[in-house]
Amino acid sequence: MTATRPQLSIDSVIAELQALAQISEAEPPVVTRVVFSEADLRARAYVKSLCADAGLSITEDAIGNTFARWQGAEPDLAPIGTGSHIDAIPNAGLYDGCVGVLGGLEAIRVLQHLGFKPRRSIELVIFTAEEPTRFGIGCMGSRMMAGVLTPAQALALRDKEGRGLEELRAAAGFNGTLESVALPASRFDKFIELHIEQGPLLEQEGLDLGLVTHIAAPASMRVLIEGEGGHAGARLMPGRKDALAAAAELILALEAAARSTGAIDTVATVGVCDVFPGAVNSIPSKVRLETDIRDIDAARRDRVIDALRTACADVSARRGVTITTELVNADPPASCDEEILAALEDSAKAAGKSYKKMVSRAYHDSLFTARIAPVAMLFIPCRGGISHRPDEYASPQWIGSGVHVLARTLAQLAS
Ligand code: GLV
Ligand code: MN
Ligand code: MN
Repeated sequence: MTATRPQLSIDSVIAELQALAQISEAEPPVVTRVVFSEADLRARAYVKSLCADAGLSITEDAIGNTFARWQGAEPDLAPIGTGSHIDAIPNAGLYDGCVGVLGGLEAIRVLQHLGFKPRRSIELVIFTAEEPTRFGIGCMGSRMMAGVLTPAQALALRDKEGRGLEELRAAAGFNGTLESVALPASRFDKFIELHIEQGPLLEQEGLDLGLVTHIAAPASMRVLIEGEGGHAGARLMPGRKDALAAAAELILALEAAARSTGAIDTVATVGVCDVFPGAVNSIPSKVRLETDIRDIDAARRDRVIDALRTACADVSARRGVTITTELVNADPPASCDEEILAALEDSAKAAGKSYKKMVSRAYHDSLFTARIAPVAMLFIPCRGGISHRPDEYASPQWIGSGVHVLARTLAQLAS
């Protein structure tokens, strides 16, 4: 920390966000950083170097969840946690997750600069694999931390190339027993995650901040369709068992089920459709769909999952294809902690920032951290509500407001 550093250096956060975005599997400014890829490892090294520069002591667990601690005056007290993730889905932007990590670090540096002496330690957490890209399940790091994903379940996960967690984490340099990843409920006193909204409301309403009260309930179902392949020219249409044509019906059935709940909060997406053998003159014999189904009401979401299962049975009977489904996850929603929300509200008022309470429709590591600690989330606007795209954008002013209010709240909770 240099003596000339301003109290809140948004320029340095923006520069660090830009530098982090250069570490990508895709051509920058497109960010792709799949967990345990070479880019993920370089990104981790970069962020850890920034944490070390800030005098934080760094530890990593057996799957690479990273903890950077600013020691408080009473180190035996459970720390106040903050943080998010730095992995990024294919074709992503540079703010999702990274704002919570680098913004959290900046909040700590601001407090250090002001000479604040925390009673409780403040710990920045960088969660492993919030994004489901590699293993098909979101929030792997926080899920294991909360004991929701057991070591046995984690060991069974495979990526597209058939590689498992054991092989990949060892190659990334993470060792130790998977059992050690789960943390006791006493590990964090409280936890706050700063994040971009990933929706349009704050920008539309001209608000600085969103105080998240609930996180929606996400689910994912994998659908495997097996039909009959063959020559695209020689095989006539009657009697075909085209797996992709069957998949097309299922995709539309899922969309219709989500639309038919009458609730704006129900959403369903098929983001992966793998076709085998994937040749233009060959009838598709196998298709794998990965579906994403969410709602703030878990029961209503589950009715959409049931509707998809019913459609699978119907399409299978009519088309003579075999369809199997696997529920990858169906998580309950989480509620944020009233005391942290009150502290965030006090801080927002003291900082002169406008805000509203809102629901998070995206999932976050806080969905699982909430199982072991009181949590809350602080949203900042993002332009046009765009996220999971390279043109994702949050202005320096928005980021500054988030960091300012986060810093005030961390100080209050750590005192
Ligand atoms: C998180 O990235 C989500 O898909 O909500
Ligand atoms: Mn994301
Ligand atoms: Mn995120």
